Amino acid sequence: MYKVAVLPGDGIGTEVMDQAIKVLKRIEEKYNTKFHCEFSDVGGIAIDNYGTPLPDHTLKICENSDAILFGSVGGPKWENLPPAQQPERGALLPLRKHFNLFVNIRPVKVYPALKESCSLKDKFIEDGLDIVILRELTGGIYFGQPKYVSEDRKYAVDTMKYSVEEITRIAKVAFETARLRRRTVTSVDKANVLMTSVLWREVVTELWKNEYSDINLNHMYVDNASMQLVRNPSQFDVILTENMFGDILSDEAAMLTGSLGMLPSASLNEKGFGLYEPIGGTAPDIAGKGIANPTAQILSAALMLRYSFKMEEAAKNIENALEETLKNGFRTGDIYYGDEGTIKVNTEEFGSEIIKRI
Ligand code: IPM
Ligand code: MN
Repeated sequence: MYKVAVLPGDGIGTEVMDQAIKVLKRIEEKYNTKFHCEFSDVGGIAIDNYGTPLPDHTLKICENSDAILFGSVGGPKWENLPPAQQPERGALLPLRKHFNLFVNIRPVKVYPALKESCSLKDKFIEDGLDIVILRELTGGIYFGQPKYVSEDRKYAVDTMKYSVEEITRIAKVAFETARLRRRTVTSVDKANVLMTSVLWREVVTELWKNEYSDINLNHMYVDNASMQLVRNPSQFDVILTENMFGDILSDEAAMLTGSLGMLPSASLNEKGFGLYEPIGGTAPDIAGKGIANPTAQILSAALMLRYSFKMEEAAKNIENALEETLKNGFRTGDIYYGDEGTIKVNTEEFGSEIIKRI
C-alpha cells in the first residue's frame, strides 16, 4: 500500500487530476496494489477555504505520505493579493523547499502520432525528439535572499546565489541520467555575464573530469540554448541547468511536443521522496470547461510510479496507453487540428480512452 497526498489545486488542476486518479484506480486493479489517496486543498482554493495557500493540515498530509501528486495553483482571482500570500509563492515554492526537492526532471518527448502538432516543420525533428531537462529546483534567483521591493517602491531586488554543493548534487544527477541514455550533457548557463554561472561551469567541469569523463559534456549559454532548441532540438540529450533557465527552457521545449499540456515533471530530494506535477499552469482561460489535456497530469502519475514506487512496468503501461490513444486519433482541443483520422474529445473522454488501453 502506498500513501499519496493528492493536491489538485486550482483551475484545470482539479479536472486533470480526476483523470490521473482514474488511471491510478485502473493500475490498482491491474497490478493488485493499493494507493491510499488523501486529498487536500492547496493554492487559491486553500486561501478561499482556510485563508492560507498552504494550510498546516495539507503539509502534514504530505509529510505522512510516500509521494505528492500535485495539480497546479494560481489564477486571476488571487493575483492581487500581497506577493507572499499568492498561491505560487505561498504554496508551491515552500513545498519544494520544505521537502528539499532540488532535482526537477522534465522529460520532453515527441510522440510519432503527434509529429504534426510539433511547432517546428517536420524536417527539424526528423530524428524524433527525446530530451530530459534537469532543472535545479531549490536554489538560484527563486529563493536567494535578500528579495524585496524597496519601501518607496522605487527599486526591487532579487538575489541569485548558488553554492558548490547545490551545483554538484544536481550535476551528478544529470551525469548519472546521461549514462542511462545517450551519454550527452549540455550544461546551460550565462557564464559570460553571471558569476553564479562562472562557478556553475567550473563545478560542472571539475566533476566531469573527476568522475564522469565518459560523458560528452557541452556548455551552452542560455540565449544560444533557447535558439538551438528551435533550430535543432535533436542535438540535446540531457539539459542540465539552474532554476530559472530551466523554467523558461522547459516551456519552450514543451511546445515542441505539441502543447504545454503534454509535459509531466518529477521533483525529488536526496532520499528519493517526490512531488509530481505538470509543468504547465492552471489555464484559467479554459478552466471549468472540461476540455483541458490531462496528459501531463497522467504522465506525472506515471513518473510517481516509476521513481517513488519503483513500478516501472506500470509506468510504461500508462505511457504506452497514452501513445496508443494518440495513435488511434484521440485529441484534446490543444492538440487537435482537424486532421483526417483524428477526433476531438474532452478531458474525461481522453482519460477514459487511456484507461481502456492500460
Ligand atoms: C513551473 C511553474 C512554476 C515555476 C510557477 C508556477 C511558480 O512555472 O513549475 O515551471 O516557475 O517553477
Ligand atoms: Mn514554468
